[in-house]
Order: sequence, then C-alpha cells, then structure tokens
Amino acid sequence: MNANADLKKLLLWQMEAGADEAILDHPVNHYHAQAGQRQSQAKQPQLPKNPTKSRDMARGMDEGAPAPAPRPSPSSNATPPPGLHTTDEALHDARSLAHAAESMDDLAERLRTYEGCSLKKTATNMVFGDGNIEAPIMFVGEAPGADEDRLGRPFVGVSGQLLDRMMAAIGLDRDSAYISNILPWRPPGNRNPTPAEISLCLPFIERQIELVAPHILVLVGGTAAKTLLGRKEGIMKLRGQWFDYASPGLSCPVKARAIFHPAYLLRSPAQKQKAWQDLLEIKIKMSGDL
Ligand code: URA
Repeated sequence: MNANADLKKLLLWQMEAGADEAILDHPVNHYHAQAGQRQSQAKQPQLPKNPTKSRDMARGMDEGAPAPAPRPSPSSNATPPPGLHTTDEALHDARSLAHAAESMDDLAERLRTYEGCSLKKTATNMVFGDGNIEAPIMFVGEAPGADEDRLGRPFVGVSGQLLDRMMAAIGLDRDSAYISNILPWRPPGNRNPTPAEISLCLPFIERQIELVAPHILVLVGGTAAKTLLGRKEGIMKLRGQWFDYASPGLSCPVKARAIFHPAYLLRSPAQKQKAWQDLLEIKIKMSGDL
C-alpha cells in the first residue's frame, strides 16, 4: 500500500469538502480529545464542539438528506456566539447604504466601503457579480468559494463550470445573463454563512436585483431560495414551482424559480433529471417572455 498516495487522496477529499485552510497551527486529534487529553488540550486553542460544516457538505443536507445537528437560529434565547447576532442598528445601516445606490457601480462602491460584515476581513476579494447587467434573467447563488474569492468573480470553480453548462443547455451565457450571490465575501473555510451575515448582506443583493430588474430570477440552491423568497422550506419543496419575487424598488414582481445548486448536483447526479425539468421550465418562460 502506498501511504503517500492514501494521504494525498485524503487531503484531496478534505479540500473538496471545503477544508482548504489551516485554522490552527497544530492538528488536534478529536478521537483522543476525551478524558486523558483534557489537561494537555487546555493549553491549546479549542475548536468549537460543533464546527460549522463546510457549505458543500451542508448544501447536501439542505438539498434533501436529513440534517444531523440543528443550526443556531437568531430567535433562540441562548446567547449567540459572535457573528450570529446582529443589531437593528446594524441592519438599518446596511439597508440605508444599499437602498440609496443609484447604479450598479454605485452599489459596488458602497459595498466596497461597507464594514458591517466581518466576512470582508477574511476574504481576499469582494465578489460582486458577473455578466450582463441588462440581461432579462439573473442567477443568484449562495456565496463565493475559494476560486471565486481568489478571482473576484462568482461561479468560476468546479460548480461554476457546471452552472455554465446548465445555462448553456438553455441558451444562456454570461453575455445573456447576470450572476451574483447572496453574500459577496467567502465565509472562511467555506463554512455556512450565519443568519446575521446573511441579514447584513441581504439589502445589497436585494438592491442589486432591483437595479438589474430581470424578468426572471433563478435562485441557485437552498440558501438563495429560502433567503430571497423568505421561506423556511428546503430546496426539495421550493424547486419545481414559480414564485413572485417582489421588492419596493421593482416596478412589478419578478418570476422566480429555485434550482438545485450545481455543487449538490455534482455529488448527487441522479437529481440532474429534476434540475433539467426546472431548466426547461425556465427556457419556456424565457421564450414567452422575451
Ligand atoms: N457557489 C455559490 O453559491 N456561489 C459561487 O459564486 C460559487 C459557488
């Protein structure tokens, strides 16, 4: 057996799951972290007992499989850890800043100066959007991953390549569509964004949608769908139907459709059939619309 090859495979597996950053200087063996090692561990920084899962893994859960551990909710009575809690004032500031933007350039500039969301501190680049801002169709995903963070463009990694192919299947590309995310900064290590981070970034994507004013809004994955539709159901329930997305700066509601996230489809190819049905519905709606 080649131990190096096995180690390499293990590392690649971890990277695909989103564990692509070293958080501590020294590895912690959590299998041995119980009784005998409590004393020596006390000297080291502790990892949270329930480290937030990588987004790709969590996406799989959100897209249908049972979730093993409940995620903290903003309405919980327990004191939330830093990053989970946000104040009315912070939300008000984000809303005022975003909603006053008069153009996409103005909005991008406002987001660049915005210091209210701590994700900005750990991100390499802001990922604002890509494509044609005059397009009649807009795709909104969850948050940048490592490749997007490095290049400052949404959906350029492996799942982005699949999204490009899904779009191409219905005659779309980045000249005929606009693409963005709920969050403009990558959550470190691809962890799930917290409810507070989502709330603080929401006014910016809402304003972006108003400025693009598409005829059709495609919500890529459970987080984008739940957040922008204001629904609690997961993607399994939200896909397969049309919604009206309304917001004060839009002259009329926009037709919205949730689709499976390409990262999920890469791990669950059997679901591509349902994704294809949704794409066909979008194509039909486009041809009636354009
Ligand atoms: N996943 C997303 O949701 N957005 C990106 O930009 C990349 C991966």
